[in-house]
Amino acid sequence: MKKRTLTLAAIAASLSLLAGTASAYDGDWKRARVYYRSVCTACHEAQAGGSIAPSKMTKAEWAAYIKADKHAKGKDTLKQYLSKSYRASIKAQNKAADKFADVPDEELLEDLKAFAARGAKDGDSPASCN
Ligand code: HEC
Repeated sequence: MKKRTLTLAAIAASLSLLAGTASAYDGDWKRARVYYRSVCTACHEAQAGGSIAPSKMTKAEWAAYIKADKHAKGKDTLKQYLSKSYRASIKAQNKAADKFADVPDEELLEDLKAFAARGAKDGDSPASCN
């Protein structure tokens, strides 16, 4: 009996490991494109002297930039602008923030990574802001 319980426990453990692998999240670049254009670009046009195209940086530069998480010359973080709390704070005036209000922060970050890699200067589909 004891042995059987152990076997079952082992099976359950490996199943949950498998499930963990299967649910690993793949960034949704389309969602990030909408978010980038509506949230990031809207503010850049208003406060950063103009839009900042994803194609301004290479894939490697984007990856390093996102990893460093220092936005606006280090004044704040990039993650802050992907967070649920930021989305909640602007959703009354911003449709994309409202639409994606409940997306987990980590997912939106993965989405942005996917979009930046795709839209980078040397990506599959270099992207402007519009
Ligand atoms: C509330 C306003 C605001 C939002 C929202 C915003 N940014 Fe910015 N961003 C700025 C400002 C201001 C600068 C700095 C301009 C400068 O000092 O040259 C900047 C600069 C940048 C730069 C240039 C490098 C740097 O950090 O100085 C990148 C890349 C960038 N933002 C990406 C993003 C992305 C991606 C998002 C959306 C997830 C985003 N920003 C959201 C205001 C914003």
